[in-house]
Amino acid sequence: LTAKKNPGQGPDRRVFLHHAAAASASLLAQVPAVHAGGSGEIKVGLIGCGGRGTGAAEQACKAGDEVRLTALADLFPDRLREKKAYLKDVLGDKFQVKDEHCFTGFDAYKHLIDSGVDVVLLATPPHFRPRHLAYAVEKGKHAFVEKPVAVDSPGVRSVLETCEKARQKKLSIVSGLCWRYDDGMRETMARVHEGAIGDIVALQCTYNVGGLWYRSLKEKEAQGWGDMEWQIRNWLYFTWLSGDHNVEQHIHSLDKMAWAMKDEYPVRAYGVGGRQARTAPDFGHIYDHHAVVYEYANGVRCFSMCRQQPGTAADVSDHIFGTLGMCNAMAYRITGKNPWEFPRSRRRRGDMYQNEQDALFGAIRAGNPINDGDYMCKSTLMAIMGRMATYTGQVITWDMAMHSQEDLTPPVYDLKASMPIPPVAVPGVTKYR
Ligand SMILES: NC(=O)c1ccc[n+]([C@@H]2O[C@H](COP(=O)([O-])OP(=O)(O)OC[C@H]3O[C@@H](n4cnc5c(N)ncnc54)[C@H](O)[C@@H]3O)[C@@H](O)[C@H]2O)c1
Repeated sequence: LTAKKNPGQGPDRRVFLHHAAAASASLLAQVPAVHAGGSGEIKVGLIGCGGRGTGAAEQACKAGDEVRLTALADLFPDRLREKKAYLKDVLGDKFQVKDEHCFTGFDAYKHLIDSGVDVVLLATPPHFRPRHLAYAVEKGKHAFVEKPVAVDSPGVRSVLETCEKARQKKLSIVSGLCWRYDDGMRETMARVHEGAIGDIVALQCTYNVGGLWYRSLKEKEAQGWGDMEWQIRNWLYFTWLSGDHNVEQHIHSLDKMAWAMKDEYPVRAYGVGGRQARTAPDFGHIYDHHAVVYEYANGVRCFSMCRQQPGTAADVSDHIFGTLGMCNAMAYRITGKNPWEFPRSRRRRGDMYQNEQDALFGAIRAGNPINDGDYMCKSTLMAIMGRMATYTGQVITWDMAMHSQEDLTPPVYDLKASMPIPPVAVPGVTKYR
């Protein structure tokens, strides 16, 4: 470990390799128009024209001269119209979306995938991810896959299978677990892996925030939305759509813990959770706090907490405790025997999002596929495992989480379908399935 032997001196080999990869990705971005598909141009389609999808489309178009946005899909025409106008404005020549390549409705994703694109950006609420990715890979498309990749265990199993097919077809799958593409976090984790804090003895991750956006029942009434339409427009608050915030938001922290553990996952979890502050039906039925202890096979524990309650103290941080020191990952800082901090001069906020797209398009051009499938599925499962533990009040093992038959898919996809708000889970009553 260079950091250990020569604290404060140049990056270690592993870090250097990360830089070399990043540098070659950006060099590749300047290479003239060629890619494994042969046509020169790389056509991109966006499925889910919301905040994140729009950002990903912009970053994709910056990932190379030959990248074009050629198709858009969203369940709702108003969402598509709004983001189409925005993207047309910001992308200039790179926006080449014809009207006949704009699709809406539940089958929009299929039409987009069949419209001649090379790459799809999947950024709908996570419930839809497994089927969207399965169809994309069946049709031979590379994919950028926003987190989480599913909301239930059957969904995770489906994505694992799809990612294996992608591997066989040499298609790239880049995950939206963006911290894995953050320069500072990469160097920090490389140091943890190479022993800067010694052996890991415990982990703590926290994702405590205030309130988030929501679409009220009053608005539902005013707009004349059916139950399903309202739930999808208000998707954060329904477990079948978001997985609950232990899955939808806190997955970022849990994935960093998995990364610190060299992609080893916990063997069991237990925890507490509930809904105390955000109790109105406008907020569906998800919890507003979860606290979960994840145990690893070697006895290490990860103490995990997340909260979404307006007016409470915010804290988004990850700490890794070792025999030689501690890593405050979000501060990119190691204290103890081998103190180190990622240089402030190299910190560039938001770069991880561009790095993801640079990596994806670099891999496509080079014909050297990236497949982030394993960790993106397992980190999603770790988050679902925590939710199962807080909802049921039981100890949930990794095997229970992996083999659960709980399928949150609704009986029909119909915006007008009658769909009461599901009951809030009650520990001790809600069953593991
Ligand atoms: N990596 C990150 O930092 C990050 C940040 C924000 C969001 N996300 C993830 O990105 C995804 C989208 O989040 P967002 O904030 O952009 O949400 P959003 O609500 O702004 O956008 C989602 C879009 O998907 C559309 N949609 C819903 N169902 C659809 C379907 N079946 N087919 C096609 N379109 C459909 C919606 O109409 C909406 O326009 C989520 O999985 C979220 O967790 C990741």
